[in-house]
Amino acid sequence: MRHLLLTTIIAATAATGAFAQSASDVAKARRAFYTLVGFEMATLGGMAQGKIDYDADAASAAAKDIMTLTGYTTADLFAPNTSNDDLLGETRAKADIWADMDGFKEKGMAFYQAVVELNEVAGGGLEALQPAVGKLGGTCKACHDDYRAKDF
Ligand code: HEC
Repeated sequence: MRHLLLTTIIAATAATGAFAQSASDVAKARRAFYTLVGFEMATLGGMAQGKIDYDADAASAAAKDIMTLTGYTTADLFAPNTSNDDLLGETRAKADIWADMDGFKEKGMAFYQAVVELNEVAGGGLEALQPAVGKLGGTCKACHDDYRAKDF
């Protein structure tokens, strides 16, 4: 039901085109959002891969920050006419996102679920962190494989 509602909201927004920002501004903000996700993931991935020492507080903080980012309402970051077909060289967001918003949201839900699980274990030692980071990383890749172009 919640799923349906979200779809309706996005459709309604798209119909009215109620965005004050330019398409380029939307793409810029969208990439900034994912830059933050990637920034926190780099800390977690670095620990999981043994590139930096495991630190319970830093791991918990990074996991919490990604959780905070999942609370961001991203509908306006996916305003219509902001795909890589519309904005060549400015974004890698494929038009498939808008053509298959349900599929895209499913990838987002899997990501969210992995973030929840990560937050339960991030402060509990490296051995618990590693599989949770691996699972989360898999959800990043699953979405990127389908909805993010390789090149600009
Ligand atoms: C539901 C889909 C989805 C999930 C899940 C997702 N991403 Fe992305 N990500 C995207 C899309 C779409 C773009 C392209 C944005 C653009 O170019 O406008 C992107 C772009 C990025 C970028 C590049 C930003 C830039 O500078 O252009 C990074 C870094 C990134 N994602 C990291 C991650 C990490 C790390 C995770 C998992 C922890 C993740 N993403 C999960 C869809 C997703």
